[in-house]
Amino acid sequence: MEQWTIKKLLDWMVDYFQAKAIDSARLSAEMLISSVLGMKRIELYMHFDKVVAPDKLARLRELVKRCIANEPVQYLVGSCEFYSMTIKISPDCLVPRPETELLVERAIEFLRNHAPSQSVCDLCTGSGCVAIAIASGCKDAKIIATDICDKALAVAAENLARHDLQNRVELLCGDLFQPVIAELNGEPFALITVNPPYVTTSEMESLEDNVRKYEPALALHGGVEGLDIYCRIIAGVDPHLKSGGALIMEIGCAQGDAIKQMLKSTGIFKEIKVEKDFSNNDRIVTAIKK
Ligand SMILES: C[S@@+](CC[C@H](N)C(=O)[O-])C[C@H]1O[C@@H](n2cnc3c(N)ncnc32)[C@H](O)[C@@H]1O
Repeated sequence: MEQWTIKKLLDWMVDYFQAKAIDSARLSAEMLISSVLGMKRIELYMHFDKVVAPDKLARLRELVKRCIANEPVQYLVGSCEFYSMTIKISPDCLVPRPETELLVERAIEFLRNHAPSQSVCDLCTGSGCVAIAIASGCKDAKIIATDICDKALAVAAENLARHDLQNRVELLCGDLFQPVIAELNGEPFALITVNPPYVTTSEMESLEDNVRKYEPALALHGGVEGLDIYCRIIAGVDPHLKSGGALIMEIGCAQGDAIKQMLKSTGIFKEIKVEKDFSNNDRIVTAIKK
């Protein structure tokens, strides 16, 4: 019978994924094989000649089929890398994107440079990736993280336990600021972060299959112009943010001007900055309260 070593399997999968135009063919193949074999990706290269057992091959065959049907590899393996941390995810959560790491960087910088108080609210937390990355980067940060989806919050709870952050990140279920009111005790946050759903109605139709078919619409769709959640956050932020505090938001690449205008029209911010990501698209807005 034909024997499949790790090297042979990896070479075959990379070629097959490339032929099927799967994004990041090598990374996807490595992620699937290492997940099924219970090894780190680097270990695959240290055990190239190891023969893969028939039950593992059968499992991989099934995952390869799902992968070429465009199911995101992160859902297939149940985790992803974000800000150099492993984050558990499920189809109830958005797959954290590299662009969102810039939101985390700005949040950590703000807490380190400006805020004596380290109280943070992370809205639309999903898997909890942003809250967890901030808490890991700022050891004094105390974070309330909210989301309307209880299934996503169940995944966030597992992530908090994995990273031993249950004492510094509290999860609350509800619509934007609604569940935090009772928790505030009159003390507004120093920092509010959010990566809300911001895809427009028309863009929803033209998303890549791996996003449109598999990622939750609740995490993606931001209304006709993609601005619905921003309007509500900006309208409701004042009582939740202390003077000198920052609202840092991820935005869609065509939304910078509209969101800047919305923030300006509140009259409560002294500084509003729109920043580009590594693809030169508007991506992060930072607004500092007067
Ligand atoms: C773009 S995802 C962001 C997830 C995570 N913070 C990240 O950066 O990967 C948006 C999240 O907002 C949540 N959401 C959508 N509408 C909401 C609302 N009205 N109130 C609170 N959360 C909401 C979704 O369940 C989803 O988890």
